[in-house]
Amino acid sequence: MFASTKVFLDLPMTAADRTRAWWRAQRSDAEPLGAYWAPGRINLIGDHIDYLGGTVLPMTLDRGTAVLVLPRTDRQLHVHALDVDEHACFGQRPLEDESTLPQGNWRDFVTGLLRLDDLQPSEPAQGLDLVVSGDLEGGGLSSSASFTLALALSLMANGWLRFRGGIELARFAQAVEVQHVGTNCGLMDQLVIVNGSFKGAVAIDCGGEAVTEIAVDWQDRELLVMHCGEPRRLADAAYNQRRSELSRGLLALGESDQSIPDRSSATIEAAMAATLGEGAAARRVRHVISEQQRVLAARKALDRQDWPGLGAAMTASHVSLRDDFEVSVPALDALVEAVVHTPGCDGARMTGAGFGGWAIALVERHAREAVLTAAAAAIQRPLSGLDHFIARPGGPARALGTCS
Ligand code: GLA
Repeated sequence: MFASTKVFLDLPMTAADRTRAWWRAQRSDAEPLGAYWAPGRINLIGDHIDYLGGTVLPMTLDRGTAVLVLPRTDRQLHVHALDVDEHACFGQRPLEDESTLPQGNWRDFVTGLLRLDDLQPSEPAQGLDLVVSGDLEGGGLSSSASFTLALALSLMANGWLRFRGGIELARFAQAVEVQHVGTNCGLMDQLVIVNGSFKGAVAIDCGGEAVTEIAVDWQDRELLVMHCGEPRRLADAAYNQRRSELSRGLLALGESDQSIPDRSSATIEAAMAATLGEGAAARRVRHVISEQQRVLAARKALDRQDWPGLGAAMTASHVSLRDDFEVSVPALDALVEAVVHTPGCDGARMTGAGFGGWAIALVERHAREAVLTAAAAAIQRPLSGLDHFIARPGGPARALGTCS
C-alpha cells in the first residue's frame, strides 16, 4: 500500500491514478483483474478525408482513457464513470434488455460494444466493476474512440467480448460509433489508437487500411495543443451533415462518394463550376481534394524536417476546413490566426472533426511563451485560463500494470 497517500493525492493525477485512487477508497477489498489504457490523438493534418480512403497523419498522445477492472460476485457489469460522477449497471451477458436503445450519453458506447459483439460464451462471464477516467476533455482529441477502445480491451480480457486485435478491433470500435451511437465517422481515430507509435506520428492510408510509423525528431520544434475555449457542440449531427453534402457533390460530379476523385484541381474546378456552382457541395469537394494534396506535401516536409513547409501545409489546411468544409468556429479561427502571426510559429490548425475544441501549433521551443500568450489573448482569456499541453506520443492502446 501507499505509505504516503496524501502526497500521492496532492500530485497532478492522470486518468490511471484516478481509477486507482477510487479503488483504494471504495473497493480495496478486491484485487484488480487488470488495467487498460487507450490514448487520445491529435491529427497533424488530413481531416475529413479518412472516410473517403484518404491518407492522414495522426499521432497518439500520452493522455487517454484508463479503465481499472475489479471482480464482482454477482455476474453483473457495472461501469463507474468517475469524470462525470456516474455509475451504471448493464446487467449480465448477453444483455437482458434487447431493446437497449442509444440514449445520447456515455452508456451508449458500452451497450454498443455488447450488442454488436458475436461472442457465444460457454459459461456466464465474470461480474465486473469497470472504473473509468479520462484526460481528453474539451472535444477533438478522440475521447470517444479512446473510451470505446479502453472499454473494449477491458471487456475482451475478461470474457465479455470476443477477442479481436489490429484492424478488426479498430473496425469493431468504429462500428459501435456508426451503427449504435449514430456518428458516421471514418476509421482514422480507431486505427491510430490501436497502432499508435511511441516515436512520433503514423501515416494511415485509410483506403488500404495500412498504417506506417513515422518516427519524428522534432529538433528545436514542439507541437503545442491549445483549447479554444469553446467545447464541441452538436458535433455529431453537423459531422453527418457535412458527409452527406460531400456525397451529394461527388455523386453530382459523376464520382464515387467512397473515394477522393483522382482528377487535377483544375479539371475538378471546371466540372464543379458546370454542375455544382458555388454551393456547399462544391466547397466540401474542394476541401477533400486539396486536403489530400496538403497531406502529401506535409509528409514530404516531415521527412525532410522542413518545419516551415509542414507549418504552411497545416495553416492552409485550417483555412480549407474553415472556408470550404466549414467545420471551424470563430474562437478556433481567432486562435490560429493569432499564433501563426507570432514569430517562431511555423503553422497551426484545428485538429479532428472541428466544431470547437483543440488547435495544434508547430512552434520553435523558445517561442512557446509568446505563442501561448498570443493564443490566450485571441480567445480573450488570461494566460492561466488557456488550457494547453505539449503533444508527446502515447504509443498504442494496451494493458497497464494495476499498481504502477
Ligand atoms: C472525427 C472522426 C474521424 C475523422 C475526423 C476528421 O475524429 O471520428 O473519423 O473523420 O473526425 O478528420
